Formats: sequence, structure tokens, C-alpha cells
Amino acid sequence: MRKKIVAGNWKMNTTLPEGVALATEIDTKLRNRHEVSNKTVVIIGVPFTHIWEVGRSLAPKFSSVAAQNCAAEASGAYTGEVSAAMIASLGCNYVILGHSERRAYYGETDAILVKKVTRALENKLEVIFCVGEVLAEREANNHFEVVKSQLENGLFNLSKEEIAHIIIAYEPVWAIGTGKTATSAQAQEMHAFIRSTVANKYGKDVADNISILYGGSCNTQNAKELFLNPDVDGGLIGGASLKADDFVTLVDIRENV
Ligand code: PGA
Repeated sequence: MRKKIVAGNWKMNTTLPEGVALATEIDTKLRNRHEVSNKTVVIIGVPFTHIWEVGRSLAPKFSSVAAQNCAAEASGAYTGEVSAAMIASLGCNYVILGHSERRAYYGETDAILVKKVTRALENKLEVIFCVGEVLAEREANNHFEVVKSQLENGLFNLSKEEIAHIIIAYEPVWAIGTGKTATSAQAQEMHAFIRSTVANKYGKDVADNISILYGGSCNTQNAKELFLNPDVDGGLIGGASLKADDFVTLVDIRENV
């Protein structure tokens, strides 16, 4: 079912004590809200080292922890890698895959992502799958083509049953960590395009039920306008997810629009 979602992505920030303190603060604020229907799914993407402890600091009723990556292989001689099974064994239900920083700095190709998504689904992890164009691609008016190709080559090998476990995050790379957010119209235009691309492949039912998040300098100032769009189901939040007040305010904004 299509859900309203606010997902944080802490990236490589916080030591374990700092992360537990931040998660505890977020959890307390989420618990203390009143008149809340809990319609919004709250997910917090933390470093691998934090999954267990942070997961134990969060009341499952209010939020869940996510990993930010997983290995492409199931197990074996892959020094330094962390498998989807290991993540799942920590009680974690989500993993972020294909983030533009992973694509750009760690050479994650569509083919690698196909394997990672497969490993994640084999271990019953829900996947937040990131797509998005770089500035030069948008300026060359290639953004739709780029995103379409990321969807086709990274996800569209999945069956109809499998794609139901995917949350798509549209994150224009030029908006990530730059303070330069996509306009509400740009976000809606791309989200509608993504939904129609999913519909063409899997049918309208599947497309109507998939959640599509916007990411890239989403903050308490611009979130309302972004979340009001019919095809924007929520946000993937980097910088603003490191401040408990801002993050919970974003959850409230999502809940109320
Ligand atoms: P940002 O990051 O909100 O700091 O731009 C978003 C993301 O990379 O997921």
C-alpha cells in the first residue's frame, strides 16, 4: 500500500553514543506528540555500527531503523562487507540502496544494484531505491531519460510481487546537500513521470501503490510545498535528519498535508 513516509539518512555522521542520543531524542519527541494518527511511516537510516543499538532505542510503533547499504553477495570472502542477512538479523527491516553518493564514490552500477536489491528482498528487507540525475543531465534536458534508465536497469527485473517491497526515492543529485532544492513543480513532474514509468511496466495498480519520496535539501521550510504534490509521498532527508526537532517537524508536516 502506498504510504506517507519520512526517512532520515544520517550518512556517515555521529559516533555510536551521539547516534543513540539523537535517536532517543527523536523517539521521545515522536512519543510525546498528541493528536497524531501515526499515518506516517518514520524510518531512520543509520551507519551499520548503529543499527542494533539505535534500533533498540526506537519504539517500533513510532519509527524503524534502516541500513544505508548492503553487500551484493550473500556471504563469503568479501572482507569489510555487510550482508543483507546480517542487517536483517539485527531486526532491521529497511535498507537504502543506490544512493547517488554510493553510485558516484563507490562505483555502484545498475548491475551491482540489481544484485543488492535481490539480496535485500531475499532477506525480507524493504528497499528505499534512489534515482536521480546530475546537474549536467538536467541542463541537457536528459533527466527523464536518466531516471527511466536507472529504474529499468536497476529495478525492472523484479516481479510484480517483488516491486511492492520497493520505495523509490527521487533525489536530484544537484539538490543533495547543496541547499538548492528542486521546485515543487520539478518534484511533482518527475514523481509523476516515475509513477507512469512504473505503471507502463507493472500496471496502474502497482504504480498507485508504490511510495515515491523526494530527497535533496528537503527541510522544514520547503517540505510542505513538496509534500502537497499528489505524487510526492514523503521525503528522504539528509542534513535535516540530524536535528531531532527538524526531523520530527518534517514528520508532522507530512502527517498534516
Ligand atoms: P540532503 O540529503 O537532505 O542533505 O540534501 C538527502 C540525501 O542524500 O538523502
